Parts: sequence; structure tokens; C-alpha cells
Amino acid sequence: MLEEIKRTAAFVKERTSDYSPEVGIILGTGLGDFAERIDAKYVLDYKTIPGFPVSTVEGHKGRLIFGEIEGHRVVAMQGRFHYYEGYTMQQVTFPVRVMQQLGIRCLFVSNASGGINPTFRVGDLMVITDHINLMPNPLIGPNLAELGPRFPDMHNCYDKTLIAAATRIAEEEHIKLQYGVYVGGTGPTFETQAEYRYFKAIGGDAAGMSTVPEVIVARHMSIPVFGVSVITNCGLSDEVGDHEDVQRQGKRAGARMETLFRKMIQNLK
Ligand code: HPA
Repeated sequence: MLEEIKRTAAFVKERTSDYSPEVGIILGTGLGDFAERIDAKYVLDYKTIPGFPVSTVEGHKGRLIFGEIEGHRVVAMQGRFHYYEGYTMQQVTFPVRVMQQLGIRCLFVSNASGGINPTFRVGDLMVITDHINLMPNPLIGPNLAELGPRFPDMHNCYDKTLIAAATRIAEEEHIKLQYGVYVGGTGPTFETQAEYRYFKAIGGDAAGMSTVPEVIVARHMSIPVFGVSVITNCGLSDEVGDHEDVQRQGKRAGARMETLFRKMIQNLK
């Protein structure tokens, strides 16, 4: 596993003249447009990267984009891998391992989710303050001791300093933010009404099918994480979940999320 990670990282470094990104970004459902506005220096199709899985879901492009945002070098994943697509958890989290080898110092993640908190509205941005993992843990198996401990701590999983920066920037930019706990399930089904009620009862504010594996692996390697979720539907309402609707709502909220991410990256030391 470690050899494969290193081999892929070496390939990517070679193809990008050792670009050494400071920030890793994972762009979720409908939020891929942001990637088009990165001042790109190198673009690698997942298909061309040895060891990389290939994205299958509609609306997810599979490209690794290297470029500058507000003067900082970033690597952005346009399209991510989901457990429900049939990838193993090692495949789902492989790009995060590779980004760590490339030298990222923090990870920004975004996704779409169904709101469970009754005060949330469709189109809201929720800063992820914590998560509940209802998927298999990506760290099951031999520990990669060179990268992190057998029993990683999950306190402060979502970096408090980055959350405070987001709050300040959102005020300046007049962006409304919600805050809450993201419940990560496997999908691909949207939740039943009883499941949304269960997620609420155990302390969840939004339900989704991604992000948690990547965040666990980033935290295994002590990389600070900032996460934002676009609320694309309200789970406890009578409306049914719909993938197209999720994509549409994701796109609409994309501009606000882009502003938030840009200003936060600008503020990084
Ligand atoms: N549940 C799970 N994942 C989702 C949802 C949802 O309601 N909306 C968008 N992604």
C-alpha cells in the first residue's frame, strides 16, 4: 500500500515539476465549477495516474488540478470516489494519501448533504464541526505506521482555527453559515424517514455519503481539515431525494462556497 502511494506520488511529482501544493481541496457534487476557475498550471486526468481509481458518477469529473488560488499553491480533486460506487475504502482514500505525499499542509473538503436539523434550509452552507461515521472505517487493516498511529485521536477532527476563520470571513462577506454534525452513511439509497429521525436522534445535523473516509485518513496523518456541506434537500420533509436536484442545489450554493474557500486560502499563513 505504502509503496503504491509513493509510486503514484512520484509519478504526479514528475508530471507537475514537483509543484508542492500547500492546500488540498476535494470538490463534491455540483461543486466542480470552482475547479474551472483555478489558475491551473497542470491538469492530470485520473485515468492517466497509475494507482488512481476512476470516477463513475454523473456530474463528477475525474481530474487533479494543480494551480494557484489567491497566491497559494493548491491541488484540487474535481470528482471524488464514493464507497457506494464499489471502491474499497483504501481506493476511496488513496488520493488523500497521495496529496499528503505531495506535501499539503491542510485539506478543504466539500459535499452535498440532506439537512436533518429543522432550522436548515435548502441551499444553506453547513460548516462541518464534527462527524458520525456509519461507514466501514478506512483505517481497518494493517496500520501504515510511517504515516500515522494505530489509534488516531478524533478530537478536533475539523480544525477549530479554520472554523473560526470561516466564521469571520462569512461575516465580512455576508454569507450565512450553519454549523453541524455530518453523518456519513454508505448510500447509495437516500435515507428512509425513520433513518433521518434516527440520525437526528443520535446528534446529526446533515446526512451524506462521502467525506468521512477522506477526513479520517487526513486526520490519521495529522492534516488539519476544513469541511463545508451544501444542504441540497431537507430529509425530514415529505419530498423525496433526487440526484438531479442535489446537483442543481449544489451548483447554486457553489458561488458562496467558492468565495468562502478563496478567502480562507488567502488568509492561510
Ligand atoms: N442523504 C444522503 N446523502 C445526500 C443527501 C441525503 O439526503 N442529500 C445529498 N446527499
